Amino acid sequence: MSTVRIKASSDYDVIIERGILKDTGKLLRAAASPKKTAVITDDRVDELYGAVVEESLREAGFEVIKYVFKNGEASKNFDVLVEMLEFLAENQLTRSDMAVALGGGVTGDMAGFAAASYLRGIDFIQIPTTFLAAIDSSVGGKTGVDLKAGKNLAGAFWQPRLVICDPDTLGSLSEEYFGDGVAEGIKYGILASPSLFDKFMKKRAHTELEDIITECVSIKRDIVAEDELDNGKRQLLNLGHTFGHAIEKLSRFELTHGHAVAAGTAIASRIALELGICNRETTESIIECLKANGLPTGTDFSEADIARTALNDKKRRGDMITLILPEAIGSCRLYPVKTSELEAMLCGKLKEE
Ligand SMILES: NC(=O)c1ccc[n+]([C@@H]2O[C@H](COP(=O)([O-])OP(=O)(O)OC[C@H]3O[C@@H](n4cnc5c(N)ncnc54)[C@H](O)[C@@H]3O)[C@@H](O)[C@H]2O)c1
Ligand SMILES: [Zn+2]
Repeated sequence: MSTVRIKASSDYDVIIERGILKDTGKLLRAAASPKKTAVITDDRVDELYGAVVEESLREAGFEVIKYVFKNGEASKNFDVLVEMLEFLAENQLTRSDMAVALGGGVTGDMAGFAAASYLRGIDFIQIPTTFLAAIDSSVGGKTGVDLKAGKNLAGAFWQPRLVICDPDTLGSLSEEYFGDGVAEGIKYGILASPSLFDKFMKKRAHTELEDIITECVSIKRDIVAEDELDNGKRQLLNLGHTFGHAIEKLSRFELTHGHAVAAGTAIASRIALELGICNRETTESIIECLKANGLPTGTDFSEADIARTALNDKKRRGDMITLILPEAIGSCRLYPVKTSELEAMLCGKLKEE
């Protein structure tokens, strides 16, 4: 078992241990004492893990209600959020009650936003069940929904009270969704840890899962501690995301988040090479690592489409957009560019020549 303590506007633990899902109730009782808990989950996760969590909460003396929505990014919108809020209100949840986000990043982001806005804020905990949620979305307090204009365009910073991560739950993920987490994990390696990057290069994600989750969460902890509200260093976590979000959107979400981020990371590494920010070996090893893990390293969308879509991204500030570019494995930098220059920068970088 490992516990990572996150220091943010409110501090909380991320507990990582195989088999702890069944101890959810006990862990929650130790961290807080709500009366009622509202489990928020999607239909697929509910089928797999809903009963274990509900039973554990009831055994620990909590009254449990549950809201289940259809799985997938398409649900991450205001219509579903409003239904969620109405459900909490119909069940008369009060400020001393608590929401439990059980699932992947879609569930965590939406349940977190519901918790942030219901009664102007109630407590919530995160129980991530995807690799991506375990190492990224469940930690750091970013919550929200998508708008028609783009992903995550409405939301709030709202930290969970506790994160309970049971790596065994990731065993039921499809290879595709597991790969999404691998892409985010490789991102952490490029940002801060050559040894973590090396584990992915050697394809050890399945065999060293618990250690890898702990290392990724620790890297995110360090970055979030310095910049909770995303005005500076936290932007580094967007490595691969400016182009990744654009590719994800252009594919109408047929390409999953991590796969699009992998392509975006490869593109960023080619731009870094051309600008002389990193050397050829760095770009080549990033691309090799993504490929070794079955992830995409390019896209067939055009420079114009990607630049136009990327400029709708919330990372744009005025007529500048900040790219995150690798300097070496283990180090990246923020690189502001004029929006008018983005399309030209993408020329020849979208896939291997
Ligand atoms: N808040 C943040 O800081 C942050 C960071 C990264 C990503 N995100 C968001 O996270 C979302 C992507 O997260 P995701 O990939 O977890 O998506 P997701 O929640 O849609 O989960 C992916 C799929 O896996 C299924 N699933 C979940 N757990 C499972 C399990 N254990 N076994 C089998 N199937 C399971 C889900 O039902 C879903 O169909 C995006 O919306 C992205 O914007 C947020
Ligand atoms: Zn991401």
